[in-house]
Amino acid sequence: MKIAVIGAGHVGGTLARRWSALGHEVVLGLRDPASAKSQAQAAELGLAATDRAAAAQGAEIVLLATPGGVPAIDAARACELKPGQILADATNPLNANLDGLEHPGGLSGAQQLARALPGVRVVKAFNTVGFGIMAQPVREGRRSVLFVSGDDQPAVEAVSKLAAETGFVPVPLGGLPASRMQEEHAVLWIHLAVKTGLGVDFLFSLCRGAA
Ligand SMILES: NC(=O)c1ccc[n+]([C@@H]2O[C@H](COP(=O)([O-])OP(=O)(O)OC[C@H]3O[C@@H](n4cnc5c(N)ncnc54)[C@H](OP(=O)(O)O)[C@@H]3O)[C@@H](O)[C@H]2O)c1
Repeated sequence: MKIAVIGAGHVGGTLARRWSALGHEVVLGLRDPASAKSQAQAAELGLAATDRAAAAQGAEIVLLATPGGVPAIDAARACELKPGQILADATNPLNANLDGLEHPGGLSGAQQLARALPGVRVVKAFNTVGFGIMAQPVREGRRSVLFVSGDDQPAVEAVSKLAAETGFVPVPLGGLPASRMQEEHAVLWIHLAVKTGLGVDFLFSLCRGAA
């Protein structure tokens, strides 16, 4: 599958490496692909870097991994996505203290993206765990959950399938309004990692059983 990864930082770089290793055709879409930094990132990952529109062209899934809020909307617009394309939104519109979210009008970052990009199938995913867990979502034999939401069921299924391939247990939450909870969950994750001293090497796993 062709996957465009927009942003080659901690999240974009980690998932690009992982998906490439799984055999997907991964292209990096960067805001300044010719810069020395971008070229070094691409070389380190062994991938091609291009501008965001070229990367997104024909991609079955476009992962957005930039800072959240306005930069995310600007970056997504720069992808020039066609109606029907799937945008997997890993961003969190965090406030400056990283202890809350910017949700103008009560809309999550993912809902703002959907509003800004009519016809694009926005799926919220890959935003609720640290990038170290994305590299290998298993600890002590337990797989991390990955919450997924979106208004288009086939798109949610496509992203969930990719999440499962990546090693997660995908947990669909329903329509895109649930992305507000995913973004709040990311704040909880950061709180645990940074404020309580738990560190970044932990995951949430789902235990179910017959009653
Ligand atoms: N870090 C985590 O563990 C984690 C986990 C889950 C979700 N997230 C979310 O994922 C997103 C990316 O996080 P990250 O840790 O990967 O960040 P990061 O390491 O800082 O990487 C951010 C990427 O976005 C690009 N970028 C920076 N400012 C931009 C702008 N104004 N417009 C467009 N692109 C811009 C950067 O490119 P340049 O090289 O051009 O600056 C870089 O490729 C954030 O929204 C974050 O909340 C992070």
